[in-house]
Amino acid sequence: MRSCQRLKSRLLLLRVSTARLRLTYQQGILRGLTLLTISAAWIVIGHIESAFGNPGGITNIFKPLSQPAQEIKEVSLLVIAICTTIFLIVAGLLVYTIVRYRHRAGDEASEPPQIYGSNQIELAWTVLPILIVFVLILVTSRTIADIQNRKPASDAVHATVIGHQWWWEIRYPKLGIVTANELHVPASSNNNREPTFLKLESVDVAHSFWVPQLAGKTDVIPNRENRMWIEPTQPGTYLGNCAEYCGTQHARMLIRVIVHPPGEFERWVAEQKRVATEDPGALEGRTVFFANSCVSCHTIRGTSAQGLFGPDLTHLMSRETLASGATPNTPATLRAWIRDPQQLKVGCLMPNMQLTDKEVDQVVAYLLTLK
Ligand code: CUA
Repeated sequence: MRSCQRLKSRLLLLRVSTARLRLTYQQGILRGLTLLTISAAWIVIGHIESAFGNPGGITNIFKPLSQPAQEIKEVSLLVIAICTTIFLIVAGLLVYTIVRYRHRAGDEASEPPQIYGSNQIELAWTVLPILIVFVLILVTSRTIADIQNRKPASDAVHATVIGHQWWWEIRYPKLGIVTANELHVPASSNNNREPTFLKLESVDVAHSFWVPQLAGKTDVIPNRENRMWIEPTQPGTYLGNCAEYCGTQHARMLIRVIVHPPGEFERWVAEQKRVATEDPGALEGRTVFFANSCVSCHTIRGTSAQGLFGPDLTHLMSRETLASGATPNTPATLRAWIRDPQQLKVGCLMPNMQLTDKEVDQVVAYLLTLK
């Protein structure tokens, strides 16, 4: 008799503790859900904020100004819309269930009805997701095919973009131009479609070429050629950056795409094709430059400097920035850079050449003539 009573009281205790467990489990789900919603909102707001917070909004993925970025945005919005709808339905049902069927006094005595094997429910949650995934696959593959199958016209501009730690070498094989960190392309218009086709290569590690308003990311992989194209229609400067961690100065591996209005691209090409001008006023700096190991890394066309490790300096002063966008290209920053590149960009492959102040001034005076 006593043992029977003890068993009864134990069973009651067990029921109470499972009920409590259920309660903490529900609270856990609620807390998890709240946390998930807050972090999702934080990420979304953070992204939109950083995209819109930029003066001029030039890295805004929501404001594409070129194909294929426009097409990618449309697919992304569709995917976001479908996923948001699913999230809202699932999260809504979950919250409803948690609130509606929360623990109530007197629940211990009974179990909720148990339902097994409902064909309708099982069919619904199998067929519906398959249909959704199928729609997403079709739309995505059509966009990918559209982008990948674009064929260059015979007179299209081709450029090879080569990733280095931590700068971009840009070559126009057909035009005989080599430059760095600033990709110049013609603007495309309805009556004159002018997409620029890019070949992407790397000489060291994996990088990724990304100019958000123009196109999606494309990886830049050693021993592999990747291809992409851009077709901006609005002249201007578009900012991008390396989107694959590639070492110490990954964050300062910026790229600028300069889109020229009709006619101006040809003028830029003509200027870049010229060999370096020789200014007799900069003879001393030229002597210092050629007496040091600068020549083993840099090319200045029209001179004996034919190094290939660093950026081509033939038209250095035509560029807006130094050190792959790390700083604007002004006489003062150029001087600081020559004085000690490691101060401006720690870890970059250009060493401090240990030049005297006078020599630095002379080299800067020489480089300023490379327009
Ligand atoms: Cu190159 Cu990151």
